[in-house]
Amino acid sequence: MTNRAPIFLAIDTSDLKTAQKLAADVSPYFKGIKLGLEFFMRFGSDGVRSVLKAADHDTKFFLDLKFHDIPNTVFKSVQNTLDLKPDFVTVHAAGGTEMLKAAVKAVENTKTKILAVTVLTSLDDADIKTISGKTVQQTVLDYAAIAEKAGVHGLVCSPHELKVLNQKLDSHLDLIVPGIRLHADNTDDQKRIMTPIKALENGASYLVIGRAVTQSDQPALVAKKIAHDILEKETKVA
Ligand code: C5P
Repeated sequence: MTNRAPIFLAIDTSDLKTAQKLAADVSPYFKGIKLGLEFFMRFGSDGVRSVLKAADHDTKFFLDLKFHDIPNTVFKSVQNTLDLKPDFVTVHAAGGTEMLKAAVKAVENTKTKILAVTVLTSLDDADIKTISGKTVQQTVLDYAAIAEKAGVHGLVCSPHELKVLNQKLDSHLDLIVPGIRLHADNTDDQKRIMTPIKALENGASYLVIGRAVTQSDQPALVAKKIAHDILEKETKVA
């Protein structure tokens, strides 16, 4: 496990073989894989099992379905994910206190942790202002406060909110961070981005990296290099 970086590979694809190959090639370097709506809507639980089987046996699993519904529906939906033994399941913080509590209750006495998504990293201040009149940072802090009180185990946030969240949160929540780019000039549809080492320095528990690895010609090599750079930096700091 020592040579694996605290990263989940976001496997967003509608092709099963591609997903299995990515899991097999990258799991030696990253601690986990993340499967989300694109994959799940096509291949469901059996598809998930086949990808997990292709990955190294101790690979963590993040099921990113971002539930947002009435509390009873979210409670039962989260319960229905437990057969897959996910390490993390996501719900939207915008679903409110009762919905968040229902999600947490659904995973009681299991290893699964509930992550509340604050503000998607594809949105910026201009987008959020048209919805609520607030800044991204204020909105993230408001959602984080609700989520923390409801007892969630972690938050999904952009790298730019890590410092302020670490200052303001009372308890120790896992902070899981997408919006990672290897070079600041390549954003795709992400607007609040940062490089892997900087995001970890700013206090991320785990990073989520998708296209920077999956869309490269050599995903395993790119993943190996990212992991190597992170672990080398950690060794130097320690
Ligand atoms: O390809 P990229 O590295 O941008 O992938 C980011 C992944 O993280 C996607 O799977 C996306 O659904 C997810 N995500 C996100 N922003 C959030 C929560 C999850 O980009 N706030």
